[in-house]
Parts: sequence; C-alpha cells; structure tokens
Amino acid sequence: MSEMQAERVEGTPSEPVTGEALLALNNVSKAFGGLTAVGDLDLFVRPGEIVSVIGPNGAGKTTVFNLITGIYRPTKGEITLEGKSIVGLNPDQVLVRGIARTFQNIRLFNNMTVLENVLVGQHTQLKASVLGSLFRTRRVRQEEEAARERAIELLSFFGSSLVDRQDEYVINLSYAERRRVEIARALAAKPKLLLLDEPTAGMNEAETLEAVGYVRRLREELGLAILLIEHKLAVTMGISDRIVVLDYGRKIAEGLPEEVRRDKKVIAAYLGQSAEEPEQTEEHEVK
Ligand SMILES: Nc1ncnc2c1ncn2[C@@H]1O[C@H](COP(=O)(O)OP(=O)(O)OP(=O)(O)O)[C@@H](O)[C@H]1O
Ligand SMILES: [Mg+2]
Repeated sequence: MSEMQAERVEGTPSEPVTGEALLALNNVSKAFGGLTAVGDLDLFVRPGEIVSVIGPNGAGKTTVFNLITGIYRPTKGEITLEGKSIVGLNPDQVLVRGIARTFQNIRLFNNMTVLENVLVGQHTQLKASVLGSLFRTRRVRQEEEAARERAIELLSFFGSSLVDRQDEYVINLSYAERRRVEIARALAAKPKLLLLDEPTAGMNEAETLEAVGYVRRLREELGLAILLIEHKLAVTMGISDRIVVLDYGRKIAEGLPEEVRRDKKVIAAYLGQSAEEPEQTEEHEVK
C-alpha cells in the first residue's frame, strides 16, 4: 500500500476508502450545451447513512439524482454502487441494482389506486412470464397475491391511514399522503439506497415533522441509506449525518450539519450577501 493510500485509510471520516461507500460519484460532470449543470462532483453515501444535498435553485441537485438513476449519462466521471459502475444503465436497471427514488414533482398514476401505484413499483421484482400472465396460471395468481400483501405491508409503514385508503384513487389524496405513496412505491423495489427529492416540499409544519420521522425510520427499521435533497434548513440539519452543498453545479462545502451551517461560502451562496453575516442564516429557508 502506498503512503497516500495509507493516509486515506487513517484519514478523516469524510474521506471514504474505496469499497466502503455504497454509492460513489467520482469527478462527475454533466453539461447541457454550454451550461455545466454538475461539475467535477465527488460524492459518496455509506451504507445506512443519511446524506443531504442542498443548494440554491438551479444548483444541480436534481441533475445529480438524474445522473445516479440513469436518466442522464454523465459527460464525464464515474458512478459506482457497491464498487461496480452503474454508468450507462437505464433507470430500470439502476432500480434493480438497488437505487430507488422519488421525484421533486410527485410522479404517481393519478387514475390508479393507492395499492395499484405501489404494485407498479414491484414490477422489477415479478418473475412471471408473459405467457404465464396471459393464461393466469396458478403461479401467476400466487405471485399477484404475494405482491398485494407486500404492497399493503409497505403502505402500513406509514400507519393505518394509507392501508385504509388503499382502493382510493391517488388524485383524491392529500399532497402529504401522495408523497408517502410515492415512497411506498419506491420501497417496493427493495432498494438499498433511496433518493428523496424534496420530500417535504409543500408540506405544512406538522406534515414536515411527520416526514422527518419516517425518513429516520426508513434508515432505522429498513436499514436504508438515504440521499436527500431538502430545502428546509431545520429538516436538513436535524436529519443528516452529512451535508453536501452545491452552487452552480459545484460542491462548495461538505461536512457535518454544524460545520456546513457555519461555512462562509454556504452562507454567501444562500443569502447572496457578504460572508461576514452568518447569524442571519437560521431564519432563512435554505434551498
Ligand atoms: N434537461 C436539461 N436541459 C437543459 N438544462 C437543464 C436540464 N436539466 C437541468 N438543466 C439545468 O441545469 C441546472 C441545474 O438544474 P437542476 O434541476 O439540477 O437544479 P436544482 O438544484 O434541482 O434546482 P431546484 O432547487 O430549483 O430544484 C439548471 O440551470 C437547469 O436549468
Ligand atoms: Mg431540483
């Protein structure tokens, strides 16, 4: 082992050694024409870790999620899950490998029921052949029944309210309830890592508190690692093991919540003010 590698092994906890990270982005960039939406980004998530990505509007946060989930291919750089490259895989293949997500603007089938939406999330798990499905063989019926049971179990993660409303059309649900259904659908794919893009956007204070509770439980009870885009500073600070801050596609800071909160570059990026006035950050909703 070289001296440099040895130093990394014993180095700061924010420097993972290769193989330790569940997800790792290495020098990843994405350009749209002349615009660098994400530039030279290094980012990692360890198993069971809750990491937040924050930054002003247009900072590149959602683009990072789209790169990880195969919606976009990086212009350069490497993305690995458990040490294996996932660059070039399509979103379904990334899902099968173990990364599920929710969207900034909820994407559910409004003309389908709560239960049906969660069943859709299991499509990567089902084994029945097309012929088997056509003739509804015993095996297919058994698989369907098991899928229903599992979907209900996933809904029950959020208590009884969604289970009670399993046959309701999604369009009739509150915004907060729809966000939960979307998470249940993501969980149906049995992910190791869950990406949540602004999971509390549009929620009132009580709903936000509840959301914080279930994000924690996703880690504690299901052992998931979570990468979270979040703009409510109180949520981010309270929930994250580590925070990565983007501005104009670049990482400008990374660290423990209290380190990031005090970082002058972060304060300047958010408030567009002189970096000398840190005490004002706490009142602002940071995006
Ligand atoms: N498909 C695309 N084509 C062209 N430009 C894009 C595309 N997707 C994103 N961008 C641009 O890349 C930049 C980053 O966008 P992104 O949606 O990742 O930001 P964000 O941090 O998620 O912002 P917000 O907080 O508003 O959700 C923006 O300037 C955006 O306009
Ligand atoms: Mg976004």
